[in-house]
Amino acid sequence: MEIDLATKDTSWWVYTLPAFLGSEILIDGYVLFSLVMAFVTLGILTWAFAVGGVAWKNGRNRRGHRLIPGPRGLPVFGSLLTLCRGLAHRTLASMACSRDNTQLMAFSLGSTPVVVASDPHTAREILTSIHFADRPIKLSAKSLMFSRAIGFAPSGTYWRLLRRIASGHLFSPRRISAHESLRQLECSTMLRDMTNEQELNGFVSLRKHLQFASLNNIMGSVFGKRYDMVHDSQDLEELRGMVREGFELLGAFNWCDYLPWLSYFYDPFRINERCLKLVPRVRKLVKGIIEEHRISKSRNVGDSCDFVDVLLSLDGEEKLQDDDMVAVLWEMIFRGTDTTALLTEWVMAELVLHPEIQEKLHSELDMAVKDGSLAALTDADVEKLPYLQAVVKETLRVHPPGPLLSWARLSTSDVQLNNGMVIPANTTAMVNMWAITHDPNVWEDPLEFKPERFIEADVDVRGNDLRLAPFGAGRRVCPGKKLGLVTVTLWVAKLVHCFKWNRDVDHPVDLSEVLKLSCEMKYPLHAVAVGRK
Ligand code: HEM
Repeated sequence: MEIDLATKDTSWWVYTLPAFLGSEILIDGYVLFSLVMAFVTLGILTWAFAVGGVAWKNGRNRRGHRLIPGPRGLPVFGSLLTLCRGLAHRTLASMACSRDNTQLMAFSLGSTPVVVASDPHTAREILTSIHFADRPIKLSAKSLMFSRAIGFAPSGTYWRLLRRIASGHLFSPRRISAHESLRQLECSTMLRDMTNEQELNGFVSLRKHLQFASLNNIMGSVFGKRYDMVHDSQDLEELRGMVREGFELLGAFNWCDYLPWLSYFYDPFRINERCLKLVPRVRKLVKGIIEEHRISKSRNVGDSCDFVDVLLSLDGEEKLQDDDMVAVLWEMIFRGTDTTALLTEWVMAELVLHPEIQEKLHSELDMAVKDGSLAALTDADVEKLPYLQAVVKETLRVHPPGPLLSWARLSTSDVQLNNGMVIPANTTAMVNMWAITHDPNVWEDPLEFKPERFIEADVDVRGNDLRLAPFGAGRRVCPGKKLGLVTVTLWVAKLVHCFKWNRDVDHPVDLSEVLKLSCEMKYPLHAVAVGRK
């Protein structure tokens, strides 16, 4: 529900003060000193009385009949110092829990007012409200052209057009099944490479194989291009380097996003400079691929075509500029690559740690693959394997790849919540999915890895049940959720059917996390792969 409140302009006196005092008096040292002191005192008083910190001054969080509570943090910085390092989802969860602010907590990141929901009911209200359909955009995302891509475009006509094209083509069930052969091919290559590594080293380091398979899989459906590790090593290295650099830039905590005045003299990670260097490389690569598609006469826009073909086939009002196409295509590579690889790595880590669960999975898979042929295992088969589905869901619960749902939302007007709080327009809103999936009031024994819970009760993870919504919910829910899930489920099925995965004594499994763009294992998973007959 929208509430109309007139904005209070509190800065009028800054402009009128010189006129009152006269410019000569202002030059006087004593008057200047008094003014500075007055500013500082006013700043401290504003901060001292602002629940939620300085970005919540002027009673921004008192617009409803219930105040949005929250920590004050430090003057100027708010809670920036607390959240700029470590695992923000865990820090926010313990702050909200210790202050009893799980429904909604207000805090300040520099001058940015933020709210975080750690409760399924408030999370649903935020994610499904049409007034939260925009996202705040980071400086790096803007420099890397993402403001024209689906994830960051404001929720207007352009964004709706992109979502429609993507859901109708790249993510439609027919397209996903038409591209199954690609997923199968990448998986076979991965299994072969893992077998070789096992023979050579006596263990497998899974991450690089998963990342390569995910990148190639998404390159295949988006660009219609596959890389071969041996023959295309130079191009592949260039592409990997660009993806890695993009991840780092987008995932980096940039102080200038929250304290804009800092950008004039402080950029410790050289984010701006690195973005400026990366953009021409991305443009060159993606435009090159678009040109190759333009030159090729036989444009195929059937189910098995790639996404570049689809974008090039658009006409009239739907036709996209080249730079928009570059942004949309590049974003797909970004979103599709790391999430799939890191979720598969988390699943495999839990299976190595829980041999009894792996054993149950082996039995289920052996029953499904009756003739013993691994190639026979298809998307349609794995969809019918309840224990496998439960293992993937349990991994999404314990290790949601986007614990804070990756990218936040932005309110476009004042939003009244059912609990009486009002979130003002222009507030950044986060949902702490990790806090919800680890809340003992929501999940029994939340710290235990127990896939059986999903056999006993069916829980939809696609955004309808906010107790577990790792793909978000509402209008901006992840459009790649089905593609992500079928890929991870098929690959896990094949990895487990092919091998028994044991602990590697020299590289114990460590479930420590590191939060970048997504939350991944801090130490890559190593395991011993014993072939199954
Ligand atoms: C395990 C896999 C994945 C997970 C856990 C995941 C998670 C998410 C989450 C949490 C969001 C934000 C949703 C919200 O704000 O409500 C999102 C958005 C998005 N995801 Fe995914 N994702 C996955 C796979 C993919 C894949 C494979 C693609 C594409 C190839 C993709 C493309 C996108 C896009 C384009 C958006 C932005 C949507 C918008 O703002 O309109 N995702 N994803």
